[in-house]
Amino acid sequence: MCGIFAYLNYRVPRTRKEIFETLVKGLQRLEYRGYDSAGVGVDGPKKNDSGDTSKTFLIKKRGKVKALVEELYKNDSTDLETVMDTHFGIAHTRWATHGEPSAVNCHPQRSDKNNEFIVIHNGIVTNYKELRKYLISKGYDFESETDTEVIPKLIKYVYDNRENDYVSFSTLVELVIQQLEGAFALVFKSVHFPGEAVATRRGSPLLIGVRSKYELSTEQIPIQYNSNAHFFEGVQQRNFRNRVDSTLALHSVSDRKAVEFYFASDASAIIEHTNKVIYLQDDDIAAVAEGKLSLHRMSRCAGEDPVRAIQTLQMELQQIMKGNFKAFMQKEIFEQPESVFNTMRGRICFDTNTVVLGGLKDHLKEIKRCRRLILIGCGTSFHAGLATRQILEELTELPVMVELASDFLDRITPVFRDDVCFLISQSGETADTLMALHYCQGRGALTVGVTNTVGSSISRETDCGVHINAGPEIGVASTKAYTSQFVALTMFGLMMSEDRISLQKRRLEIINGLRILPGLIKEVLTLDDQIRSVADELYQQRSLLVMGRGYNYATCLEGALKIKEITYMHSEGILAGELKHGPLALIDKHMPVIMIIMKDACYTKCHNALQQVTARQGRPIILCCQDDPEITKNAYKTIELPQTVDCLQGIISVIPLQLMSFHLAVLRGYDVDCPRNLAKSVTVE
Ligand code: F6R
Repeated sequence: MCGIFAYLNYRVPRTRKEIFETLVKGLQRLEYRGYDSAGVGVDGPKKNDSGDTSKTFLIKKRGKVKALVEELYKNDSTDLETVMDTHFGIAHTRWATHGEPSAVNCHPQRSDKNNEFIVIHNGIVTNYKELRKYLISKGYDFESETDTEVIPKLIKYVYDNRENDYVSFSTLVELVIQQLEGAFALVFKSVHFPGEAVATRRGSPLLIGVRSKYELSTEQIPIQYNSNAHFFEGVQQRNFRNRVDSTLALHSVSDRKAVEFYFASDASAIIEHTNKVIYLQDDDIAAVAEGKLSLHRMSRCAGEDPVRAIQTLQMELQQIMKGNFKAFMQKEIFEQPESVFNTMRGRICFDTNTVVLGGLKDHLKEIKRCRRLILIGCGTSFHAGLATRQILEELTELPVMVELASDFLDRITPVFRDDVCFLISQSGETADTLMALHYCQGRGALTVGVTNTVGSSISRETDCGVHINAGPEIGVASTKAYTSQFVALTMFGLMMSEDRISLQKRRLEIINGLRILPGLIKEVLTLDDQIRSVADELYQQRSLLVMGRGYNYATCLEGALKIKEITYMHSEGILAGELKHGPLALIDKHMPVIMIIMKDACYTKCHNALQQVTARQGRPIILCCQDDPEITKNAYKTIELPQTVDCLQGIISVIPLQLMSFHLAVLRGYDVDCPRNLAKSVTVE
């Protein structure tokens, strides 16, 4: 979805150019979240008598961040060396939901022509029509088609109708968010509160990075609880004066010392500046004034944590850099020997053949008593559930359902207290998966998060879980997260079956398979050139079918998803068992078809499907095991893969398809990391 980035320097002199560069760098790191338009809101270069800048400038541009950069320097060439002691700038890269990509629809959105209040938003305000109507009735003019525009208008309305002058910026925001329905992460800037920032979230991620050359003395930031009256008609403000606004300094240094704050929708935009971050939780309001950060909430709910911890990010800058690769996706494909190793690191003991997932061990007894497992996810994460269903059924001896989060919710699927629901999500923020989590919680089921993002909503809100530890995934097309989810879920099965005597031989076989997995992935990656030459033959085709069954059915779906999302070719993953029930009609000598035929229990059946394809003059490109002359003689081309234990073979066979999609996209001239109409982390329904 959209990317939010904001930067506040307090008593840290920065030139206007440095401020621009910081904002632009932040946006570039977040561009994978949305890239149809981008904008910044900054103070004007000129100061008034009191040293504050009096005007906010908006610079917005349709297209990628690159287009915005050209616009920024075009507009501002003369004042770039102006030094600003304190400055707050906000920036946004958009993935359009309401209103086409255009400068006027892009963020920051503003309250009025003077830019009194500006805001950047990630998420969707679902009641924006009512709010818009109300504000129009009060004389406010709208210029964009966005849902977001109601927010700056609403805060101006509250400000314009205030009864006293003591209202704080955070109070205004608090009043505004009481009126919003839907999901949001928001950062506000206002000419009425120069050098102050207010940020808040509900359902969309937002974190704050803090950099100071002084020690951060407070590891836990206490939250201030307020209980302002609900406003709307008439805007009640009677609590403004009485409000307990006991802002606490985040750090031990006095007001006169320097500090810098970064606000972002994900950590990758912050890590090069600081590794000290605070993850905001739903309805937290963070305000920075005079260089001090304070956190507020409305009234306290039972059981709620009254503090927010300052956490240290484990991520390295290098992890989010492309290095020598052409695209993040390519880099992430090639990282898989290490990323799957990191998923297993410290969790599997190859001497004792034991697996311990720390985040699950306290709940293991409860999970073993459950009636069924439900694996829920979207897109690639759903495929990871599908890929591991069979081995989980075998190792847990429980029924396992695999559900697309959106469909699961649409069906109002029956869920019971003795179900265990796995919410699988790379980002940990996908709106459909998050809603499915809330749905399962509402029905009393135990919820288990399987995410790649520490501190994400799913990892925080589930009862227990596993971090897949694949490292940041920036490419919009998910690759290494899939293989790590696959490994993590398989490890869960191994943990569940540790005391089953009848399963020990099978467990041993799988654990050995996991031990050699990074090496086998390395071997598959050496086939890159061969795969590129196959892509050379295919890239002008309109369609590409991917066919297989059993453990590799999920591989077909995942391969076809990769192909369609970054190459824009039509691609379909077909269960080979269904071939004669319809898809066979597609086969002729022109239709490219990739078949996955591995030496597993489905080998003979896949071989039959192959014969049906060749009998219709199909020319299959086959992913098969090394040394399989029977297959080779029937194939148009083969890509021979190392063989491993059947339930892990899908990890090996998906990699050629990831590489294939990458090469097809490059040959077709597309930007691999920015597929059209898509964005990483879909935080809207
Ligand atoms: C495909 C892809 C998407 C995501 C899906 C779920 O390459 O990336 O299909 O898998 O949007 O995202 P997460 O895993 O973040 O919940």
